[in-house]
Amino acid sequence: MDRDKEIIAVTEPVEIAQVVELADDIWREHYTSIIGEDQVNYMLHKFQSADAIKTQIGEGARYYMLLHNNDPAGYCSFYLKESELFLSKIYVRKNLRGKGLGGMMMRFIQDEAKRNGLHQIGLTVNKNNARSIAAYIKLGFKKIKPLVMDIGNGFVMDDFLMKKSW
Ligand SMILES: CC(C)(COP(=O)(O)OP(=O)(O)OC[C@H]1O[C@@H](n2cnc3c(N)ncnc32)[C@H](O)[C@@H]1OP(=O)(O)O)[C@@H](O)C(=O)NCCC(=O)NCCS
Repeated sequence: MDRDKEIIAVTEPVEIAQVVELADDIWREHYTSIIGEDQVNYMLHKFQSADAIKTQIGEGARYYMLLHNNDPAGYCSFYLKESELFLSKIYVRKNLRGKGLGGMMMRFIQDEAKRNGLHQIGLTVNKNNARSIAAYIKLGFKKIKPLVMDIGNGFVMDDFLMKKSW
């Protein structure tokens, strides 16, 4: 691994606070044009507040942060399920995209799946998140089916389910 890039487990309150800040920056920048400001605010509060992340970790979610020159540059979160690793989140700061950092996180995630005897990664991605869908296809994922999930307050996640198997 390059010394200027590092993936660390998120466990301490200070690291959770750094993920909250990354999520706030990246989600506002990336998702406002896709799902609108109201849904971004709702989802940040519901899924990416410090309390929400602590609860998710308590329920088995694993969070990892990507450091670039020691600065928080991205993060990911996943669950190890019986039949697959479910990748819940993977984000890289806008100014650092397209430089191999997402691919590096994805290799780390796939290695974690393999270490746990799993042969598949599943994820969901917004149908209008075209650049990320293109990146996932380059990274070996296939579109499986559309998936609409009610997340409360009149909002839905209008996604594709994608999977990569080996
Ligand atoms: C999706 C994301 C994590 C990928 O991270 P990244 O650092 O940009 O990805 P990389 O530079 O490592 O690229 C990985 C592969 O995808 C390809 N790729 C990246 N962006 C692409 C794009 N916009 N169009 C087509 N291919 C793309 C790269 O060429 C590379 O392919 P290769 O391995 O064959 O060379 C990042 O772009 C991101 O944070 N996007 C916004 C947030 C988001 O939507 N996250 C996903 C939520 S479901």
